Amino acid sequence: MGTFYPGPVNELWRRASRIGRPAEFDSKGTAASFECGVSVRVFVLVDEKGVLSSVRYVSNGCGWSVAAAEAATRLIEGKRLRDLHALDELESDICTVLGPVPDSRESCIAIAVEAVRDALAEYRRVRAAEWKGETALICSCFGVSEETIESLSASGEAETVEDIGDLCRAGTGCGSCQILIREIILEGLR
Ligand code: FES
Repeated sequence: MGTFYPGPVNELWRRASRIGRPAEFDSKGTAASFECGVSVRVFVLVDEKGVLSSVRYVSNGCGWSVAAAEAATRLIEGKRLRDLHALDELESDICTVLGPVPDSRESCIAIAVEAVRDALAEYRRVRAAEWKGETALICSCFGVSEETIESLSASGEAETVEDIGDLCRAGTGCGSCQILIREIILEGLR
């Protein structure tokens, strides 16, 4: 029997195992397209070792959207935050899983990645809000404070976000703190 979607997309859509709002999660993220009306919400649970122990999602979208979110959650569940490398490769990894992706469907993949990124950013914000250190926590993946980044920047050892990552790993996990690191570096140059 023929199917409406290409094989891998159909398989992930029909056998979606991570769909549904979980009872327990640490943070959630949402992404949507006003063009086609799809929205995807991703829920993450992170254990004490910084491992994404559970990643679930809900989507009101088509088979492509569900398959992209399903693939994204399967790809990152079980990984450590610090091994996600700012999700730089998630989009291309999803494309590899789904097979050739027509231009008209690229937004389905982008929305899934954006929802994951948003969930990890919220996780970072929650962790930062809980931080009991004396100065603000900037990188919650690696517990790096504002003071540490300021002093690396002021010492001249670090001029870029990448330098900071090399020296103390801040910014090399989920990547959601990179914008703050950049601001601290720029602030120090003023
Ligand atoms: S908060 Fe995740 S890399 Fe900094």
